[in-house]
Amino acid sequence: MSPQILQFLYLFSAIFFIWGLKSLGSPKTARRGMHMAEIGMLLAIVGTLFHHEIVTYKWIICALVLGSAIGASISIWIPMTAVPQRTAISHAGGALAACLVGVSEYYTHGEHLGMVTMAIIGVEVMLGSLTFTGSIMAATKLQGLIRGVPITYRGQNVFNIGLLGVMISIVVILVFSPGLTSLFYLLAALSLLFGFLLVLPIGAADMPVVIAMLNAYAGLTDAAMGFMILNRIQIITGSLDGSSGLILSVLMCKAMNRPLRNVIFGAFGKISQDASSETDSRKKPIREAAVDDVSIILENARSVVFVPGYGMAVSQAQHRVRELADTLKALNVTVRYAIHPVAGRMPGHMNVLLAEANVPYDELYDMDQINPYFPETDAVIIVGANDVVNPAAKRNPGSPIYGMPIIDAEKAKCVIVCKRSLAPGFAGIDNELYYNENTLMFFGDAKESMQKLTTEMKKLQGAHA
Ligand code: TAP
Repeated sequence: MSPQILQFLYLFSAIFFIWGLKSLGSPKTARRGMHMAEIGMLLAIVGTLFHHEIVTYKWIICALVLGSAIGASISIWIPMTAVPQRTAISHAGGALAACLVGVSEYYTHGEHLGMVTMAIIGVEVMLGSLTFTGSIMAATKLQGLIRGVPITYRGQNVFNIGLLGVMISIVVILVFSPGLTSLFYLLAALSLLFGFLLVLPIGAADMPVVIAMLNAYAGLTDAAMGFMILNRIQIITGSLDGSSGLILSVLMCKAMNRPLRNVIFGAFGKISQDASSETDSRKKPIREAAVDDVSIILENARSVVFVPGYGMAVSQAQHRVRELADTLKALNVTVRYAIHPVAGRMPGHMNVLLAEANVPYDELYDMDQINPYFPETDAVIIVGANDVVNPAAKRNPGSPIYGMPIIDAEKAKCVIVCKRSLAPGFAGIDNELYYNENTLMFFGDAKESMQKLTTEMKKLQGAHA
């Protein structure tokens, strides 16, 4: 293939990637955006396969077969609820690959490397290594293999910032003396340690921001690799990944009311939880409701807000939720859906599920849009959400979610909580909302509960007709 055709393929690939990213900005066009990005990736791979510097296809074919098998298995068997962990593992893999390319380049050229190339390799290996271990740590925490509580010790920030300073100094020394081989490998080792230490103090509730940040680091590592091997599409995709990851981190920080500098230096999420208030709330009584109690409340309601959360994703209740909403609408009830930016386990998780169930977009309200409606809302139905409606975020400065803006469900006239037990959510903390006088606990699996309610409401609808 002539170099011009290769450059054309890369150009079109870049266009499809940018178009795809743009389309991901709205739930209406997100599906199309994913297809655009897939085409972009296909063009980039096909173009690269025709690269004139390829000497043999043997190992490339092995990697293609192995990579495709792993990718297909992931898409078939990993559930939607495990997507954040899966994403973290993908970041780890991408970062490790870029880091190894840097190491092999250093191994091959070592002391003969020019200053610019050495600087790029230094940054690539540093970012790649820390993203690798940071992402593995994040995935382990998200999967619950290690406890999600922040692990902190005295002088942690000073130590981490000092370590970062040492790593940056090593990169600078290597730029002037690339032949210092042992220093290069020390850089890789310290960076691996740094990634691990970076994520250690971050609490489970703050993981969404960390994942977005690691996404940005992985993108920057890829861009550095692109500069090193002089591959334009790698530079473009790495920069897109890096910048979109950074923008997402900023948006998530805003949504969770966390300063970005704390994410970058891994110093937030510290718990000084007020255990006594939790114990007290556990002693309080709850009000449990059966399906007919809830249906009577809904029959008399004029406005209802659904608050979906992770439990709706687990039980795949989105279709049943929409059916219940349709039944309520047939009874002239105004229905809205409240979407918290970090509800579920990935950005836009609730939007994706509700779009799959064909919920009209104009019924979806972001947190800031819906909160003013609650005082005039007759009933809120919380479907498997927990942390995103926990008033401790507003009232308990010792809580790990303190400061995170929440959906003000408690302000509605009646709050119906649909979950299986009083078990905590992702942040692992009790929810005082469950003990409020206007809250009714409607225990059960979200899908089954929504089904039962719909059947009951349809009976009432028939009786009214
Ligand atoms: P969570 O606080 O995780 O609560 C989910 C609740 O769903 C649980 O309390 C659970 O209670 C219930 N549940 C589980 N399976 C259920 C089922 N089959 N039927 C009914 N209920 C079920 O969810 P949330 O309110 O959506 O908050 C999200 C949390 O995840 C936040 O802390 C956020 O920071 C974190 N996070 C978010 C992301 C992104 S980007 N969205 C990524 C990583 C982490 P029972 O066991 O009692 O049923």
